[in-house]
Amino acid sequence: MRTQVGIIGAGPAGLFLSHLLKQQGIESVVLEARSRAYVEARVRAGVLETGTVEIMERLGLDSRLKREGMVDEGIDMRFRGRTIHINLPELAGKSVMIYGQQEIVKDLIAARIAAGDPLIFEAKVTKLSNIDSESPVIHYQHDGEDKTLECDFIAGCDGFHGVSRPAMPQNVITTYDHTFNFAWLGVLARARPIADMTYTNSDDGFALCSRRSMEVSRLYLQVPFDEKLDNWSDARFWDELHKRMFDYDRSEIAEGEIFQRDVAQLRSFVTEPMQYGRLFLAGDAVHIVPPTGAKGLNLAVADVRVLSRGLTEFYRTGGRGRLDAYSARCLERIWKTVRYSTRMTELLHKFDEHSPFQRNLQLSELEYIAGSRAAQTTIAEQYAGLPFVED
Ligand code: FAD
Ligand code: DHB
Repeated sequence: MRTQVGIIGAGPAGLFLSHLLKQQGIESVVLEARSRAYVEARVRAGVLETGTVEIMERLGLDSRLKREGMVDEGIDMRFRGRTIHINLPELAGKSVMIYGQQEIVKDLIAARIAAGDPLIFEAKVTKLSNIDSESPVIHYQHDGEDKTLECDFIAGCDGFHGVSRPAMPQNVITTYDHTFNFAWLGVLARARPIADMTYTNSDDGFALCSRRSMEVSRLYLQVPFDEKLDNWSDARFWDELHKRMFDYDRSEIAEGEIFQRDVAQLRSFVTEPMQYGRLFLAGDAVHIVPPTGAKGLNLAVADVRVLSRGLTEFYRTGGRGRLDAYSARCLERIWKTVRYSTRMTELLHKFDEHSPFQRNLQLSELEYIAGSRAAQTTIAEQYAGLPFVED
């Protein structure tokens, strides 16, 4: 099989890229290791920046998002039993949208399949070859057979555990990595969500109350990095959440059936450069941000937006200017986002290794934010999303 752009991975990065390229008349084939059902059921992100919503609009794929997505105009940060409300439209001039990542993935997959464009599930990529030539090759397994996809370019959108990043020559890349020694236990519960997205820093650890609809809450607790799901009965989960949210009389947070659970590690990770020859990496394949900033999906979309412009220029004019600048162009936003997500993580979690002095500094920073419009604006403009600078 042959195509112009071979895309590895049907997560947000790969799917958005396939649609952006199609809009410019560029062919692609998407290869995804997992089944459609698995990919569509994977519960992850929920907060979309305006820029991400605008791309769905531009692709003409926003009808369900407009109907079911919930505009979120503020976030709350709680500590010492007090709440800081950060008003996004007032401080940043825009809001965010709550719409589950798996809903976006469903919309993008359905549109690709309806258009009859190639998206092959259960196609596990095993190897890339000739990436520094003009016809790189993707090797994959499908239906029990070894197959190849020849292309002009390969887009490695295969997430943190994919094969694309390891295919980069190890002597050209530099990796920056920071792992936190805690994780997030996330659940979905059939329970009425609280009024605002609320992050809390308590003496017992971090918690976050978000939502997916007016009937479904998305709730997270900070847990040790090697925590087992079995350690958490429903009763223990609710006890801990009420306590960390300072909801001691249990009047604020509604409980309900917990029907999904997962544990996610927290890390900050960047590999540079994001390209070599005809291989371009995007999304979690090349950077990970801790989820506290709600940025991973949005950053993946920002990457493929730049990549699609570079590929469009190449196919229109033969010029490689934008493609050559891809990595440098993306890394500026990536490092700002890694910085923000890491700082939010440091601000809001309980660190066992902190001395009482360090713990007081952390709480005092929250006191400062509570009283400073400037500090709240800094958070609001990054939470709502940095502007895209088009050239
Ligand atoms: P992925 O979604 O990981 O997709 C990669 C795809 O490649 C997968 O489908 C995988 O099966 C496939 N693949 C892997 N290997 C191969 C192979 N060898 N061959 C073929 N296919 C392969 N981000 C936000 O923006 N906002 C949030 O609110 C937010 N909250 C989060 C909460 C949690 C708990 C977590 C864990 C993450 C959160 N994120 C959030 C991050 C966000 O989910 C990720 O950044 C996003 O999924 C990255 O998309 P991607 O397409 O780069 O990678
Ligand atoms: C979600 C919301 C957040 O604000 C965040 O930082 C991470 C995840 C969510 O709704 O899943």
